[in-house]
Amino acid sequence: MSKRIAILTSGGDAPGMNAAIRAVFRCAKMRDPHHEIVLFKNGFRGLAGRLEANMDVNVQRAELRGILNRGGTSIGTGRVEELLPVPEHHPDAEARNKARRAFLDVASVNLYQLGIDGLVVIGGDGSFSGARAIADAYRQRFDRPLRVVGIPGTIDNDIWGTDYTIGFDTALANTVDAIRKIRDTVESHQRAIILEVMGNTSGWIALSAGIAAGASVILLPEFAEHLDPNSVVNRCIAALRGDYRYFIVVMAEGVTKTAKDPHLVKHIAQAIETNPEIARILGHRMSVRHNVIGHLARGGTPSAFDNVLAGRFGHGAVQAILGEVDIPQGVDDVAVGLQGRNIVFMPLSEVIAHSPRLISPHDELYHLSNNLTVQENQPF
Ligand code: F6P
Repeated sequence: MSKRIAILTSGGDAPGMNAAIRAVFRCAKMRDPHHEIVLFKNGFRGLAGRLEANMDVNVQRAELRGILNRGGTSIGTGRVEELLPVPEHHPDAEARNKARRAFLDVASVNLYQLGIDGLVVIGGDGSFSGARAIADAYRQRFDRPLRVVGIPGTIDNDIWGTDYTIGFDTALANTVDAIRKIRDTVESHQRAIILEVMGNTSGWIALSAGIAAGASVILLPEFAEHLDPNSVVNRCIAALRGDYRYFIVVMAEGVTKTAKDPHLVKHIAQAIETNPEIARILGHRMSVRHNVIGHLARGGTPSAFDNVLAGRFGHGAVQAILGEVDIPQGVDDVAVGLQGRNIVFMPLSEVIAHSPRLISPHDELYHLSNNLTVQENQPF
């Protein structure tokens, strides 16, 4: 029997999302051209909004032509406040809960009335939570399950259960490119630079980009105890004693939340600029610049790796919806992931419960970074 499969992209756009949309479409149609693809525009807001304006039904091949190598998401995305869990003691808890219930009602009724058999949500852990809430509302209201499949699509690479998320590889390359460009100017001026990179609460982009581009120091939100300006100054001195004449600090944006000091960047900069030992070695005071790469990391043509990964995830999503793969019993909502060389299917609830996946002190990449960056007691 032919199925109606809906797709939406949600949260921060990630390069490769278009390849995932296209793969879901093609893999479904290849199996049976009567399978129908429905696209909801602008994330969950499209699903819970005025459908005439926010939905494409019975999508045809021509509509998806040319999207494969484009960054962003061709069907739009968004963040929906109504879907955020409401903290118990929130001053507007009642109003927020009411708005949340109303949103979930509209979304689940729309899915039911449209006869959607499977919903593919491409996004991060927040989007997965939203999808799960909608699936729960659907179950409660219509007393039957809706198959939801989460495809990890976020540049942050912080979804538990998958080695990689769609968009990380491209964002990493963009970030490394920015660090390399900044190195040219920093080196020319014998300056220090604090370069803030995306990653939300996790430090995966900072860690990988710092390693790939040769940062002097990498500051990660996961290790708040290492966020002391004096330690950074000592590492700067160690770099200068090792004959470097510039200093590159790659800092994950999440650091500003986990550091006890909200003015950490300013304090690191001041500490470097006023340090007499640094000035003595250089022969002049070292000036510090602060740059934020921000959304530039998220744009541009997706890398080959991201497009292949997106294709594999899209294929997995179709397999899960059409019952071609083994899904844990009693589980309706799943996430696809990449573990080693294999595509895996995990209960969405488990993925949500363990996400965001943060860097642990046991991660091999973290150990590597401690060997490659400059330390206070640098032995060589
Ligand atoms: O989750 C992806 C991400 O790019 C994070 O790295 C960043 O913190 C956030 O989204 C930025 O969100 P927005 O685009 O809504 O400003």
